[in-house]
Amino acid sequence: MAVYQATASAPVNIACIKYWGKRDTKLILPTNSSLSVTLDQDHLRSTTTSRADASFEKDRLWLNGTEEEIKEGGRMATCIAELKTLRKEVEAKDAHAPKLSTFHVHISSFNNFPTAAGLASSASGFAALVASLAQLYALPVTPSALSRIARQGSGSACRSLFGGFVAWEMGVKADGSDSFAVEVAPQSHWPEMHALICVVSDDKKGTSSTAGMQRTVQTSELLQHRIKHVVPARMDAIKKAITAKDFDTFATITMQDSNQFHAVALDTDPPIFYMNDVSRSIIALIVELNRASVAAGKGIKAAYTYDAGPNAVIYALQHNLREIVNLTMTYFPQSQAFNDPFSLYAKGQGVPGELP
Ligand code: ADP
Ligand code: DP6
Ligand code: CO
Repeated sequence: MAVYQATASAPVNIACIKYWGKRDTKLILPTNSSLSVTLDQDHLRSTTTSRADASFEKDRLWLNGTEEEIKEGGRMATCIAELKTLRKEVEAKDAHAPKLSTFHVHISSFNNFPTAAGLASSASGFAALVASLAQLYALPVTPSALSRIARQGSGSACRSLFGGFVAWEMGVKADGSDSFAVEVAPQSHWPEMHALICVVSDDKKGTSSTAGMQRTVQTSELLQHRIKHVVPARMDAIKKAITAKDFDTFATITMQDSNQFHAVALDTDPPIFYMNDVSRSIIALIVELNRASVAAGKGIKAAYTYDAGPNAVIYALQHNLREIVNLTMTYFPQSQAFNDPFSLYAKGQGVPGELP
């Protein structure tokens, strides 16, 4: 008996221009374009195995070893259905292809980092899911086509199908056919760029991204200003900064956009607070580091950004990493007073113990 099984893994991505707001909640079409960096090390990844078998009675999913319901008409069901439709096309063209589209699937996924804690588990999770089913079904599709499917699982997931610097172009069409991710530049274009992930808390967030952004769309006037008058120019400017490897501009825009995203969360009714005191202290530390560096004529050294949670991601160039890691560890050592776990991961060629 043949075994039809495939495993795929996808890393998280951390946005510099944040996606926050849907114009279509079913298709997951955003109210603004966004741009992120996909992390390339093994610290923050989802690994998903999918198996199709004639004996399976329904589609089933296990997340970190616990079974999760696949809700009818829900995001997971939509992604699986889209991929089965593409498999049918393969079977229609090739009479020898096994009829996997008629079998149910069992899917098992593990995250090697906290789930639903503001570290983008929905991004790596749905990207890995879509990639594993695409592999199982031997689909002849481009990463952008897969990204359109991953988008319907979790918006941010569409960007994790690419490495390096990635834009999710919001598109204008009602059917979502022009809303998918594209590569802005591969990681090799700017290999000096690193991301430090500072885990301030690995608790599950109080307000999920999905619920939070929906409330923002319904209640925040600031969001309307942001999507019309702020994000389009920032998207253009940050793409140019990446192309030119202009860290000062990249960092300035990244920090501005993190700040505005959290301002928009605060402008939501009732307000949403994703950052905590530790998050704000890390911002103060980076601001002071940059102030001193700019005053000394050396330019900006680090850019903080926060997703829907208290954990900091710090973008920095390789030659400044050691200083930033030391500084961060000095102010927020493992045993620090906040009684929060605080660990540090480095993206790029090194991990903290073996930095340049
Ligand atoms: P995060 O900040 O971690 O992305 P979200 O609130 O956006 O948090 O999404 C968390 C949800 O994403 C989880 O409750 C789960 O439904 C889904 N998810 C997380 N990891 C995976 C995975 N590996 N496979 C499938 N779905 C996942
Ligand atoms: C703050 O992609 O998790 O991380 O589409 O509802 O699943 P859903 O939301 P999700 O939102 C991510 C929000 C963010 C910013 C970003 O990643 O761009
Ligand atoms: Co998410």
